[in-house]
Amino acid sequence: MIKNLMRHLSTSEDDTARIASDLAAQLTPGDVLCLRGDLGMGKSVFARALIRALANNPALEVPSPTFTLVQTYDTAQGPLWHFDLYRIEDEEEIYELGWEEALCDAITLIEWPQRAENALPPDRLDIIFAPLENEPNHREIRLIPSKSCGGTWTQRRLP
Ligand SMILES: Nc1ncnc2c1ncn2[C@@H]1O[C@H](COP(=O)(O)OP(=O)(O)O)[C@@H](O)[C@H]1O
Ligand SMILES: [Mg+2]
Repeated sequence: MIKNLMRHLSTSEDDTARIASDLAAQLTPGDVLCLRGDLGMGKSVFARALIRALANNPALEVPSPTFTLVQTYDTAQGPLWHFDLYRIEDEEEIYELGWEEALCDAITLIEWPQRAENALPPDRLDIIFAPLENEPNHREIRLIPSKSCGGTWTQRRLP
């Protein structure tokens, strides 16, 4: 892994998992993380490693919320909600999933956040996964902290 500020080159699934568990140590309730990038880029790999790190359980079952849309966990740092919004048809559906409760009290991970772009809080960490040419297992992972008023992302020691 080559580190350059908050732009990482991940060369394997394990590498991506390591970045996620490094980030986990910096999180507190109320944090919102938006995982962006195409299908197969490693958003769920990242989410799984982050949830296992927060739960202090490397064997924790972390099912994909592709069909349930959301999965919730109790972790050492409080509740964690993992959304995958790929299959929502209408942005309003998120409110039936407990969206507001998650954003107030929990650490919230959101795959496919662009499906509810208007409902995202301005204070959040965007994590962007992109492919690299000719290297099927390489990913560029960028962490982009919001600079919103009152936010704390820019003061954290992000990986
Ligand atoms: N560097 C990498 N980081 C993450 N996943 C990788 C990497 N290289 C290969 N993979 C593979 O890519 C797939 C990513 O799947 P997944 O995390 O479900 O993607 P997404 O949630 O973005 O659709 C997994 O099969 C994983 O083994
Ligand atoms: Mg996924």
